[in-house]
Amino acid sequence: MRVLAVETSCDETAVAVYDSHAGLLGHQVYTQTDLHEVWGGVVPELASRDHVQRLLPMIKATLGELALTPKDIHGVAYTAGPGLIGALLVGATVGRSLAYAWGVPAVAVHHLEGHLLAPRLEANPPAFPYLALLVSGGHTMLVDVQGVGCYQILGESLDDAAGEAFDKTAKLLGLPYPGGAKLALLAESGRPGVFRFPRPMLDRPGFDFSFSGLKTAVWLALKAATPSADLAADLARGFEEAMVDTLVAKSERALKATGRSTLVVAGGVGANRRLRNRLTTMAATLGAVTAYPRTEFCTDNAAMIALAGHERLVAKEQTSLGVMARARWPLSELRPPGQMSVQIA
Ligand code: KG4
Ligand code: ZN
Repeated sequence: MRVLAVETSCDETAVAVYDSHAGLLGHQVYTQTDLHEVWGGVVPELASRDHVQRLLPMIKATLGELALTPKDIHGVAYTAGPGLIGALLVGATVGRSLAYAWGVPAVAVHHLEGHLLAPRLEANPPAFPYLALLVSGGHTMLVDVQGVGCYQILGESLDDAAGEAFDKTAKLLGLPYPGGAKLALLAESGRPGVFRFPRPMLDRPGFDFSFSGLKTAVWLALKAATPSADLAADLARGFEEAMVDTLVAKSERALKATGRSTLVVAGGVGANRRLRNRLTTMAATLGAVTAYPRTEFCTDNAAMIALAGHERLVAKEQTSLGVMARARWPLSELRPPGQMSVQIA
């Protein structure tokens, strides 16, 4: 089976084709960062309008580059949620309609299932079960991944997501949106220990996170500090260390509690070098290994949606002709392929 996938849940327009035998045949991502940068964050209406403009030409270009025609596509997967509802509706409507026109099944894919399965796009994928730390602009979760569709959420952020905290703190420090990677770069030249911020919720049992207080702590320190050439870098360093310490400590706790031997790190913040190094060292002390999808599969992409959709389509799962899109869609509602309530005969 060859599956075409579309992803439009936030500010990336993405298209991919996945084949049962050959795996990922190709994928394209267009990021709208420039469109939103002047506003300091994603503007949902602008995101939707841009997806409308770009999606069909990108699908045509992707098929063209792979020398495929619609006759070569046996199913369509589209991201149905969670995400910005207007943006999701563009991909869902286009994906569902193409499947109808081509006479093939369509399946609604959960965006986070895509992230959790992304390491399976790599040559030597980790075997199930594994522990996943999902750290993106919209989500921060520790998930026990027992198989496709079998996800136990161990903990999640009660307020800001890790990427959101990086971006908001970067903005406080005067860095342009999205500031996560720029803050990380600035932190390289910051001095360790000049600022020591709280490690939120480490004193409490369990695996939940909370990052909004950390961002506020940086803001208070910034207001109280005497301006200097090193100030922004030192604050960035202090913030990044608090964030990384917290993510590493909770991941360690979850590895110990589950006894899993593989830790998968997914989502855009997974690109953070300090986080990667610290997680790898921590896992090694427990006799576990870390697995990182390459950066293009960590950040939003359609390759992960194609892989997840393929798993479900080969199990004869498909969505009805109505277009399904959900801004909120709890991961706990997912079931293994073929066992979802959206399945039709
Ligand atoms: O997974 P992703 O591409 O999009 C979402 O689904 O949210 O994640 C984007 C997030 C942004 O908040 C961005 O600032 C952050 O990942 N990010 C980083 C780094 N690279 C990207 N945060 C910290 N350090 C980085 N190197
Ligand atoms: Zn994402």
